[in-house]
Amino acid sequence: MNEAEIKKLIKAAMHGREFSYSPYSNYCVGAALLTSDGRIFEGCNIENAAYGPSNCAERTAIFKAVSEGYRDFKAIAVVGGPKDGALNMAYPCGVCRQVMREFVRPGEFKIIVADGEDSYKEHTLEELLPESFGAKNL
Ligand code: THU
Repeated sequence: MNEAEIKKLIKAAMHGREFSYSPYSNYCVGAALLTSDGRIFEGCNIENAAYGPSNCAERTAIFKAVSEGYRDFKAIAVVGGPKDGALNMAYPCGVCRQVMREFVRPGEFKIIVADGEDSYKEHTLEELLPESFGAKNL
């Protein structure tokens, strides 16, 4: 992915974040998932008064895509920060990393964590979820 593509995905994540429903943590997260054919699915975190049913932005984006027939992904960008504060580096939680593990092609998927349009870090899933459990184990 070139700089322009990365920037576009980060901007989409920021747009997704605008819809964050996070009245309990006041921590707003947005994600943007890029499919291999160039579509972008945006997601936000969606909290719940019972806390447990809350969903992270990354999983919202992934589940939106999978539920519409897309399973081939190139990258995801994530942005997060307190509601009225600056963005900080919102790394995907363990559950989201495992959900990514289900669908991404090893080595070909980029996880972009950003705290600004031009301020980001790029990782592979292998870096963030080494020695992972997957379908091959079963
Ligand atoms: N959250 C995400 O949506 N993605 C992450 O990568 C980290 C955490 C959400 C869950 C919860 O709604 C809020 O951020 C605070 O944990």
